[in-house]
Amino acid sequence: MEEFSVKIEAVTKRFVEIVAVQHFTLDVKRGEFISLLGPSGCGKTTLLRIIAGLETSDQGRIVIEGEDMTGQTPEKRPVNMVFQRYALFPHMNVFNNIAFSQVLKKRPRQEIQAKVSEMLALVDLDGYQNRNVNELSGGQSQRVALARSLINQPKVLLLDEPLGALDLLIRKQMQLELKRIQRHLNTTFIYVTHDQEEAMILSNRIVLMNKGEIVQVGKPEDLYRLPETVFAAHFIGETNLLEGNVTRINAKGMEVEVGGLRIKTRLHPKVKVGMQVWLSIRPEKIDLAADQPDDPPNRVNHRNDLPAIVKTRTFLGSSMNYEARLGNQRLMNLVTSAEAVSYQPRDKVRISWAKEDTVVLID
Ligand SMILES: Nc1ncnc2c1ncn2[C@@H]1O[C@H](COP(=O)(O)OP(=O)(O)O)[C@@H](O)[C@H]1O
Ligand SMILES: [Mg+2]
Repeated sequence: MEEFSVKIEAVTKRFVEIVAVQHFTLDVKRGEFISLLGPSGCGKTTLLRIIAGLETSDQGRIVIEGEDMTGQTPEKRPVNMVFQRYALFPHMNVFNNIAFSQVLKKRPRQEIQAKVSEMLALVDLDGYQNRNVNELSGGQSQRVALARSLINQPKVLLLDEPLGALDLLIRKQMQLELKRIQRHLNTTFIYVTHDQEEAMILSNRIVLMNKGEIVQVGKPEDLYRLPETVFAAHFIGETNLLEGNVTRINAKGMEVEVGGLRIKTRLHPKVKVGMQVWLSIRPEKIDLAADQPDDPPNRVNHRNDLPAIVKTRTFLGSSMNYEARLGNQRLMNLVTSAEAVSYQPRDKVRISWAKEDTVVLID
């Protein structure tokens, strides 16, 4: 049996002068929930349509379950697609929408009834089979669309921002439903979204894209913890970015000069002394404490410990958010619990964070 469900091999697609997808290579494992994440226009939909056979690539090929899909029509491919705008048949009830492909295949009536019932239970719409689809909410319509796509038992389900048109609360609920359904069926899901939080919640792996190319691929926690580029650090989660120059490298870490301050950092395999780099420090990794002038700085060798001045503070309900000046730099995202000691603008504070939590980025 093939290890990979879908292999995307060096796919390139141009629309006149626009390169929508560029030399894109990715192996998707069987049963994986993988997300294509990136800003609008980065080529996500185009790539899904190429996998589905709705679009042909200029170069490269798609292999599904070991079979080269070049020249295969969409109907011949073991895939199905769910769109953002629920493409249900408005003049049909829920049952007929879900049963549609089975009716076309002239399956026996009893078998169709059984399958539709199974699908309705799967998407938690028991008892809805006679409803007119015009009487459904957005979330329910997407459940029907999902059931309609899954009744054929596709090997791969392609989902193009399927929750994009839903309200936040329904979207959150549907995210959990999608995850449950995918786990239950163990079908390969390739999921397109521009919402990093959604990608984090749903995915086994995230493929971060920009301008038709892969920026970085990894598990959500790896992408969050160890972004490799400024783009990745910015796109996934909140962070603090500092710009500096590498002054020292040893086996355990580096030292980067940022506006006269010396910051201890992790190692980066491609970085050399003298290079200009960016540092990313996640807000939750930074400790904020009252300034104690008698304490010598850099008390602990593996931490950065520096004086800073509070500029602004914002109450966010569960947390307090601060912006502070550190030398000639600004740290935009410092958080404490809302119950913790609170600081005022112009207060002197000490901020500290571990060397290991200082991630070096290149452009
Ligand atoms: N049929 C088309 N004709 C011309 N340009 C297109 C077409 N489809 C997509 N594009 C362009 O290709 C790029 C990628 O689009 P798309 O795949 O829809 O991105 P995404 O889904 O990530 O928002 C965009 O610049 C878009 O304008
Ligand atoms: Mg799109």
